[in-house]
Amino acid sequence: MNQYIRTISGGARSASLAGLVAAALFTGCAVAAEAGSQDEVLNNIRPVGQVNVGEVKAEPASAPAPAAQEAGAAPAAAASAAAGSGRSGEQVYNGICKACHSVGVAGAPKVGDKAAWEPRAAQGMDTLMQHVTNGLKAMPPKGTCADCSADELKGAVEYMLKQTGL
Ligand code: HEC
Repeated sequence: MNQYIRTISGGARSASLAGLVAAALFTGCAVAAEAGSQDEVLNNIRPVGQVNVGEVKAEPASAPAPAAQEAGAAPAAAASAAAGSGRSGEQVYNGICKACHSVGVAGAPKVGDKAAWEPRAAQGMDTLMQHVTNGLKAMPPKGTCADCSADELKGAVEYMLKQTGL
């Protein structure tokens, strides 16, 4: 019994420090229990000023699987959304096709020139799109829009035909 008391009073000097650590551990305990990761515990008991630095460094190695999946899924979803909705036909035309199709570079049918477009439009959309996708004589494949989706190219063709009055 005496020995026990001595041990306690002997440790009294460090008691406040131990209390702090215990309190800090307790604060981080809920997260630590979920993550089950020692790094998480260490992050949670770091002084506030250091937490950001610690988290940035520790995350790639210690992030639990769900967080990693979320991080991976977000850019993928953004990319497919960009490909899905994409640029409007008007945007693609103005950004890319206009360079040739407004002035008729290398014999490109001009937007607004109905006589030039009528026989081409008469081929049907499928043929037009094949020519746009693969190129046709001086018309480069995809009209030089290498990162255009099929939908974006089709939108541009539809826009060109509409502007021409077809
Ligand atoms: C470097 C110049 C150039 C650019 C850029 C260009 N085109 Fe063309 N395009 C042409 C030329 C030249 C032709 C005519 C080809 C031929 O029949 O000799 C043509 C023809 C076409 C045709 C008619 C094809 C057919 O079957 O008669 C369509 C549709 C077309 N372009 C769409 C587009 C679209 C959409 C874009 C932008 C994504 C685009 N072009 C960008 C030069 C260009």
